[in-house]
Amino acid sequence: MKGIILSGGSGTRLYPATSVVVKQLLPVYDKPMVYYPLSVLMMAGLREILIISTPRDTDRFRELFGDGSALGLKLSYAIQSESRGIADAFLLGEDFLDGDAAALALGDNFLYGDGIRTMFQSSCRLVLNENRAVVFGYKVREPQNYGVAEFDSQGRVISIEEKPAQPKSKYAVIGFYLYPSDVVQKAKALSPSARGEIEITDLNQSYLLENRLSVELLGRGFAWLDTGTHGDLLEAGSFVQAIEKRQGQKIACPEEIAYRSGWIGTGDMLTAIERYKNSSYGQYLKEILDE
Ligand code: DAU
Repeated sequence: MKGIILSGGSGTRLYPATSVVVKQLLPVYDKPMVYYPLSVLMMAGLREILIISTPRDTDRFRELFGDGSALGLKLSYAIQSESRGIADAFLLGEDFLDGDAAALALGDNFLYGDGIRTMFQSSCRLVLNENRAVVFGYKVREPQNYGVAEFDSQGRVISIEEKPAQPKSKYAVIGFYLYPSDVVQKAKALSPSARGEIEITDLNQSYLLENRLSVELLGRGFAWLDTGTHGDLLEAGSFVQAIEKRQGQKIACPEEIAYRSGWIGTGDMLTAIERYKNSSYGQYLKEILDE
């Protein structure tokens, strides 16, 4: 399975903060937003990842992560010339995927919780062994802002609707999606919606129609936070600050994940420590190395 992070869009809701830089490069407390979904994909065990962004910003991601070798990853980049929809990631990623199964992360999605690693790894097995798509549901107060899943009395998903005026449940579908190898073919068959986008919800619906969609529910132990408004950004940053300050452990530190997974060694850590030597991030990497 390979990973894709979709990190484009116009970000107009966050203007002027995003006037000259894409939203996913803005900081959430101590690191760029994209570190958070990248870390989730890494915890799922994925090492080949494609980052998709705008014509203006793709080179900035390249500057930040390079070929990924410093994180024990193999990173590729692709440009989305205009916002054609989330499922467009699979059309742009066709050559990269080369017939593999795919995990798609939205570059602005913040997910945190003990057990992410186990949950994603077991869901990846469901995709690979049973040829099913897996999405994740999270209970929210205002589901009408998201894709919303509806369930029958036995807890089986029976519909998914994009931003419904009358949501049929409180469960939002979060921005991490796992698909089997036919995802590109299925994305190609989608028609643009009324707003002119190839919708991720239509892709999920097409798996549901074939009875090949699983919705895993994330419980209270997970934090799935929004980054859509200035206030959301501040709240996500405060959340990270509170946990990191209390525990002395960082949320979403890709070097730490790579080092603890055995994907990078002491030399790579020392290089990162030198790169970030004036910051608390560099200090943190040093503490990990010294453990
Ligand atoms: O966050 C989860 C939600 O994400 C899901 O519940 C919804 O079903 C899904 O449609 C999506 O809703 P949003 O309203 O958040 O979608 P938005 O258009 O804001 O795009 C999400 C991210 O993907 C955003 O950071 C920009 C990026 N994006 C989006 C589109 C449509 C792209 O890079 N390219 C695109 O063409």
